[in-house]
Amino acid sequence: MTPYETVSYEPGVVRLLDQTQLPARITTLHCTTVQHVIDAIVRLSVRGAPAIGVTAAYGTALASDVSGGDRTAIEAHMRNLRTARPTAVNLGWALDRMQVVLNDTQADPTAALRAEAHRIHEEDRALCERLGAHGASLLPEGAVVMTHCNTGALATGGIGTAFAALLTAHRQGKNISVIANETRPLQQGARLTMWELQQHGIPATLVCDGAAGWTMLKKNVSAVIVGSDRVAANGDVANKIGTYPVAVLAARHGIPFYVSIPYSTLDMTVPTGADIPIEERAAEEVTAVQGHAVAPEGTQAYNPAFDITPADLVTAIVTERGIMRPPYPAAFAASYPGG
Ligand code: MRU
Repeated sequence: MTPYETVSYEPGVVRLLDQTQLPARITTLHCTTVQHVIDAIVRLSVRGAPAIGVTAAYGTALASDVSGGDRTAIEAHMRNLRTARPTAVNLGWALDRMQVVLNDTQADPTAALRAEAHRIHEEDRALCERLGAHGASLLPEGAVVMTHCNTGALATGGIGTAFAALLTAHRQGKNISVIANETRPLQQGARLTMWELQQHGIPATLVCDGAAGWTMLKKNVSAVIVGSDRVAANGDVANKIGTYPVAVLAARHGIPFYVSIPYSTLDMTVPTGADIPIEERAAEEVTAVQGHAVAPEGTQAYNPAFDITPADLVTAIVTERGIMRPPYPAAFAASYPGG
């Protein structure tokens, strides 16, 4: 159980904890139209690859609610949901599952779509526990663990992906402590991960992104663990911008770099990271912090939301099926049957 509910649904409404307001305010959005849901995904009121997938599934159930089960309307809403964010493969994965149910249901699909959305959420909740157990097994007693962005309950339907390893190790009494990277430009590390770590009483220190390398050296970082929005068939990892330099720094310092993902984040249809679409967001996210300008008017900014960490920098990939090590194509092939 988590002390906060990121995504929930009841007929006619998708409820989302508004993450743009954290940590200052705990407010819930009540989305009664699919466009409300899409807008919430786009502005990152709900974010993190698995949570986006769960939200898209509930958004599809909502599409059926508001259209009275009209298939043409539901499919139009699903097409719009699919384009809300490009990098997180879990969005399309969840919608593909909802489409199968829609195709398989003859009469009014509303009940079946609701059930499938709840199932996707429940499965995510359960697999997060397994990610936690596998991930925690990689963390030694007293580990100082660096993480980037937010991968906890706010980013998933359960206790998280990489964060689940931290929480599980903490609950096992391993006496770990966490270094949370701030994660510019939108500060998911500072605003969200620090908030979640505090909710659970996990000892943690915040650093700005530029301090990651020096912190590895001075604070004896024992491991890095992050999540991902999409992993390519060769093991290249798309994750929040700034992850790639952290992986390079980890290699330089001989620190293991782990990635924790639900199996649905593995996209065997993209051969390498170069084939993963990288979302680019508004320049204002870089030129301003929390709405306050930090660069002169007229500044041009490049704002990729994700980067690609090459597979050769990834020590292991944790999934609910276990821990996979390089070479990843062989590891994936061995675990892929059954999808
Ligand atoms: O832009 P965001 O906040 O949605 O980016 C989220 C991340 O990069 C997470 O690390 C990733 O989705 C894994 S979440 C379990």
